[in-house]
Amino acid sequence: MPLALANDKSIAEAVALLRGGGCVGLPTETVYGLAADGLNVDAVSRIFEMKQRPTFDPLILHVPEGYDLSRICQPNETARRLIQKFWPGPLTVLLPKTELVPDLVTSGLRTVAVRCPSHPVAQKVLSGFGGPLAVPSANRFGRISPTTARAAQEELGEAAFILDAGSCAVGVESTIVNCVGAPSVLRQGGVALEEVRAVLGSDVGLGEESSPLPLVPGALKSHYAPATSLYRSRRVLAECGTLPDEYAYLFWQQLPKRLPKFYRRLTESGSAREAAARLFQFMRELDAMGVNGIICDPVPMENLGAAMNDRLHRASRGWADWDDSRFRLVAR
Ligand code: TXA
Ligand code: MG
Repeated sequence: MPLALANDKSIAEAVALLRGGGCVGLPTETVYGLAADGLNVDAVSRIFEMKQRPTFDPLILHVPEGYDLSRICQPNETARRLIQKFWPGPLTVLLPKTELVPDLVTSGLRTVAVRCPSHPVAQKVLSGFGGPLAVPSANRFGRISPTTARAAQEELGEAAFILDAGSCAVGVESTIVNCVGAPSVLRQGGVALEEVRAVLGSDVGLGEESSPLPLVPGALKSHYAPATSLYRSRRVLAECGTLPDEYAYLFWQQLPKRLPKFYRRLTESGSAREAAARLFQFMRELDAMGVNGIICDPVPMENLGAAMNDRLHRASRGWADWDDSRFRLVAR
């Protein structure tokens, strides 16, 4: 099936497919997702099949603006403050679930992740459908999230129905905040940690640090991985010597005097937002170049840089250390 340009007709078709228990690929402001009726176990199980995703990895319920949250979860003051500030937008809250939410959605956990996306196409599908949709990123398990409809199609196959609305503006997944007990950020994403702290206070921690178990399976150590091995450089690549052409390079901002054969540059202006919006697409493109490895510049930690570093770390095999005239690759 060709990609369907998102318009009133294709959106109506998507809603009809979802009502019939089918899956639909759709754009959100963060990444492309694979949607299905979040309260229908058969529909949700199709998501796990299409994504080849293990059922221990729970899904986020996406809701239309103005949805009565008490149907699916028990909102508290922490969540209300976040919702007021960041919805619709790239932030997911984790709250105790209600009976209505199938165990398959939450992998048997008593909490449910809930998000209200700001992308107008996602909102139109959600309000047309009139209830929560389970929407994981539209990649096969463990691979890079798609930020274009074509990348989603590469992941899901030709048979998938995918609404095409161009590239995603944010480019990294939503930030997940655990709102049960002392709030903590479980996955860094489209809303920066600093912004969450500005609303909830500076003591908001990072879930992974305080928890020995990966509460969010997306926090598994290897995730978001391209097929080509990716290594991170601690030194700015433009300041190393002549870069060998056997690798492809992901530059942050500065380009070396002699350009290597394969490269992408994340930002011309040094903007983390611009870089985040391009990161996954560039990883995909470099992955397709048939090189011996991808070597990536250091990414500044400010703002969305933290989420980018997190994804690069999980995607990486280790470090590429410049040693006079060549890289030494060190597994992590
Ligand atoms: O930006 C996004 O959030 C995208 C777009 C499509 O909306 N969706 C997305 O979904 O990233 P997914 O399924 O690829 O990642 C959801 C993450 C997973 O790491 C999952 O483990 C975690 O959320 N998660 C979901 N429910 C959870 C729960 N009850 N407890 C802990 N983690 C949960
Ligand atoms: Mg995902």
